[in-house]
Amino acid sequence: MTKIGFIGTGNVARAVATAAAAAGHDVVFGSRDPAGRTDLALPVVSVADAVAHGDIVVNATPGTVSLDLLTPLRAQLAGKVLLDIAVGMTETWELAHPNSSIGEQIQEALPDTKVVKTLVTMDATVMVDPGSLTEPGTVFLSGEDAEAKRVVAALLGDLGWPEESRLDLGGISTSRGQEHLALLFVGVAGAIDSHAFNFHVVRSAGTPGQ
Ligand SMILES: NC(=O)c1ccc[n+]([C@@H]2O[C@H](COP(=O)([O-])OP(=O)(O)OC[C@H]3O[C@@H](n4cnc5c(N)ncnc54)[C@H](OP(=O)(O)O)[C@@H]3O)[C@@H](O)[C@H]2O)c1
Repeated sequence: MTKIGFIGTGNVARAVATAAAAAGHDVVFGSRDPAGRTDLALPVVSVADAVAHGDIVVNATPGTVSLDLLTPLRAQLAGKVLLDIAVGMTETWELAHPNSSIGEQIQEALPDTKVVKTLVTMDATVMVDPGSLTEPGTVFLSGEDAEAKRVVAALLGDLGWPEESRLDLGGISTSRGQEHLALLFVGVAGAIDSHAFNFHVVRSAGTPGQ
């Protein structure tokens, strides 16, 4: 059982927090307006209290505001794993960080926090129910700290992601590719008229272990 504090009470936070709680984790939501979030089945506290609660803190806020929100919490987030699901998209669905990524920017602003970017390349419904697809596809991980990625990978397992579906891309600079895949996500979603899909990395038939 891991203590997990979610920042945000939107679609992603609700889906992942509910699934994490169902898997036995000790979950709270952190909101700008805890008293106003009366429709949630799990505890809702302030953002600062959610950060204090979590051994894992999940950033499920708009990528356009995440940095401003998290930077003042640098001391409270020191030493913690920050599972970052944010993407910065403009109102017209363009990348807000076309030459960077919010994952990299958060890691730079919070050098004592172990940022792991994952789950960002799919819809919230698929994040917590990969088994609903014909096959799970691939979930990517990016981050500097190997142990933090192991912790997050274990949580992914609890959410239904088989070990063979998880692909460690390397350091936090690789979060840029994950975030920028959002453009392709939007294109595919339009083409198939559904958000219920995932990307799947397939390898050469001759690749060992495949
Ligand atoms: N939806 C998806 O399927 C999906 C897929 C991949 C990635 N993402 C990324 O995941 C993140 C969360 O997405 P979402 O769909 O859950 O978004 P959302 O429904 O808009 O929820 C975002 C939450 O962030 C909190 N927040 C804190 N500061 C905020 C601010 N200044 N403006 C607006 N909200 C603020 C809000 O909670 P309080 O009001 O309670 O503080 C809000 O409920 C985004 O970065 C998104 O790009 C989403």
